[in-house]
Amino acid sequence: MIRIDDIRFDSDYYEPLIHFLMNSTGLNLDYYRKKFIEKRIKSRMIRVNCGTLESYYNYLLENSSETNKFFDCFNINYSVFFRNWEVFRQFEKIFLSALYLKNGDIISDLTPNPERQYRVRTKKDSMNSQNRYKNPKKFRKHSINQILYQTSLYRKIWNPSESERHINIWSCPCANGEEPYSIAMILDNLKNQIPKFPQFRIIASDIDREAINRAKKGIYNEDSTKSVSKFYENKYFNKENENFGYTYSINKQIKNQVEFIEEDVTRGHQTSLTYDIIFCRYLLIYFSRRTRKEFSNILRNRLNPGGLLILGKTEALNNFQGDLKLIDSYNRIYIKEGDLNIN
Ligand SMILES: C[S@@+](CC[C@H](N)C(=O)[O-])C[C@H]1O[C@@H](n2cnc3c(N)ncnc32)[C@H](O)[C@@H]1O
Repeated sequence: MIRIDDIRFDSDYYEPLIHFLMNSTGLNLDYYRKKFIEKRIKSRMIRVNCGTLESYYNYLLENSSETNKFFDCFNINYSVFFRNWEVFRQFEKIFLSALYLKNGDIISDLTPNPERQYRVRTKKDSMNSQNRYKNPKKFRKHSINQILYQTSLYRKIWNPSESERHINIWSCPCANGEEPYSIAMILDNLKNQIPKFPQFRIIASDIDREAINRAKKGIYNEDSTKSVSKFYENKYFNKENENFGYTYSINKQIKNQVEFIEEDVTRGHQTSLTYDIIFCRYLLIYFSRRTRKEFSNILRNRLNPGGLLILGKTEALNNFQGDLKLIDSYNRIYIKEGDLNIN
């Protein structure tokens, strides 16, 4: 059995191997961090017992199914409903503020059910909250009201033109659907309580066909639903006791509110839409510094002026943010500055 430390990356075979993988899987490997790619290659090499790149390269040539296996192991589809749930609370708050409502005006509860939270607080968590206390500037949560009038969301709600009736939201990448369905549940709950709630459209895309198929099925296990509050669980899931534990099926009404697309976002986006809110969480971490800038331009071009970009908790645009301004450093929310011409 080969161990990770035994693997040698013979440089002669690195480029041909990458070239072969790019051609056969269609993955745009140029975008990803070298360390990330190497880790994925090594994990496959261990599986098929190859100690050198040369032997893995030959293995790939001789075993056509290995290409698909590499693709599957390359995509890390980990996601959960309401991942970093405070981000979703902020998202809900932004909608309510744009409608001049307060949290107390509607019935909603995003606080995860404590009975299902088995994760123990780590040292890192408590350090983060201490830093937040010591260094409030770094983790400043901007009052949403300060930027509200600059958002395209606000403009569309209060001054919609014919072509701009819908609030467009894009979840990219969406993995198995947990993120876009979390968004859909929040908006559906608001829509049911608020007269004349704006129309919205949720697009969700991912490179991984299997993940998109799982998303369309909408059946989840206990782990991926552990941050769902009792309120949302009762309202939008059918819980069933199977032999191996509970399953949670998302209800049809929520399923119908999300349009799923299979695509490699580094190669473009299939709709012609521009968005008011883009959730792009936990994808940038896989990209190299060089390509992050290019990628942030792809997102920026899809945002309306005043549109919001939400990154993962550990992600940042750093030096290449251009006209994207960080407005909530705790929840990693950026706004695209620009001319908000009202037509
Ligand atoms: C860790 S998940 C993040 C899911 C979700 N946004 C969240 O925060 O839970 C990363 C996803 O990125 C997808 N992915 C990786 N490269 C991609 C690409 N070039 N285009 C679209 N999706 C990609 C993977 O298939 C995987 O489902």
